[in-house]
Amino acid sequence: MLPTIPDVIKRLSVIVGNPKISLSEISSFISSDPALTSRILKMVNSAIFGFPGRISSVTHAVTLLGFNVIKGLLMGVTVLDLMQTAMVGLREHSVGCAIAARTIAEMKGMKNTEDASVGGLLHDLGKVILLLQFPQDYKLVLEATDQKGMLIFNAEKAHFSETHAAVGLWLAEKWKFPKNLTDVIAYHHKPQLAKNAPVDTAIVHLADILVRTMGFGYAGDAFVPAVSPASFEQLNLSEEEIREVLRNIESMRGMGDDPAW
Ligand SMILES: [Fe+2]
Ligand SMILES: [Fe+2]
Repeated sequence: MLPTIPDVIKRLSVIVGNPKISLSEISSFISSDPALTSRILKMVNSAIFGFPGRISSVTHAVTLLGFNVIKGLLMGVTVLDLMQTAMVGLREHSVGCAIAARTIAEMKGMKNTEDASVGGLLHDLGKVILLLQFPQDYKLVLEATDQKGMLIFNAEKAHFSETHAAVGLWLAEKWKFPKNLTDVIAYHHKPQLAKNAPVDTAIVHLADILVRTMGFGYAGDAFVPAVSPASFEQLNLSEEEIREVLRNIESMRGMGDDPAW
């Protein structure tokens, strides 16, 4: 089952999937669209990325973030937009997950914490595609989580025989997403399978669960899945560190529902 893709994402995928595109071409693409420009700047200056100073121009953002992150971010802001129509609360869930992931990446001394931010934003990309392409079917999936007390991952599997993680993997490969982002999207529910970015994937896996425990946003069910013991051990966060991640998520409550995003 291969879903068709909304036009806006298709147009963007031409840029994201083009290995030959230059940073200045990406800059001009963003700058030619004022709404996109303001969203990108808002995002890079928010707690999702946590840069200390203000980034005031697209050129500055593009140079600072580099190819992989800017491509992921470009996809991220567009997908966040679609999330709002696809499933109320999914955007807030994704924003919360990005903040949590960035915070954990910082605690772990990761060099490129932006990768965790983008991974958090896009980890449930497959849900957006499934929701937009099969709204009726997905409604049944959501009813199943509600009435049968199922996790969304299992309800998708029961209904579509595939999950949002598999659909996300398919898209990420099709668009030649950076390998670490592809891992996060494909394996955030089974972090032990990540080969290219096991730490980023473990981080987003835990971030996803922490955001759910906070009742922050909505990701398709009312339950909190179990944390992978291996990931939990791998990240080795203290109780105080976990509390700090939760505080950071809490401080951004409501942001994902702000229409300015
Ligand atoms: Fe997910
Ligand atoms: Fe999620």
